Amino acid sequence: MFKVGIITSSDKGYRGEREDKSGPLIAELVEAKGYAVERRVIVPDEEDMIFKEIIYMADELKVDLILTTGGTGFSSRDVTPEATIKACDRMANGIAEAIRYYSLSITPRAMLSRAVSGIRNKTLIINLPGSPKAVKEALDYILDSVQHGLEILTDKAHDCARK
Ligand code: MTE
Repeated sequence: MFKVGIITSSDKGYRGEREDKSGPLIAELVEAKGYAVERRVIVPDEEDMIFKEIIYMADELKVDLILTTGGTGFSSRDVTPEATIKACDRMANGIAEAIRYYSLSITPRAMLSRAVSGIRNKTLIINLPGSPKAVKEALDYILDSVQHGLEILTDKAHDCARK
């Protein structure tokens, strides 16, 4: 069973001014796939706090997958991709590209997400946009392939039988 950490980046969510619907939705969607949610947090849109939380989840909790939501847009407070890039030792651009590719068939505004995806040691980190709608659209599209990636990353699978 893969272990998951979920980070919601939101100033308003952190201050309690907006209910975080996306974090709980991510938990629900990954639990439905049989994953275990180890930790779910809301942090403000502060690069250093997002970075530290990614490091804690990856290095201390050793989760297999970190899913972030929010902070991927153009606002000056949107810094989730920058914190993620700092934490990664290898980028896995295809996942962020796949999310944008699929999402563009739903809304042209998908091009406004600066989300990235990458790997820190044995942990895969994926940025998702902030809205619950975008979260569901992205996860529905990527989760099966991400599972295969996690199996390879954690040495549970070695060959890539094509799907
Ligand atoms: N992706 C999907 N699948 N569906 C959406 O509705 N919204 C877009 C984009 N990606 C959207 C999407 C919009 S409007 C923005 S501004 C960016 O994600 C960034 O969102 P964020 O700042 O909440 O991370």
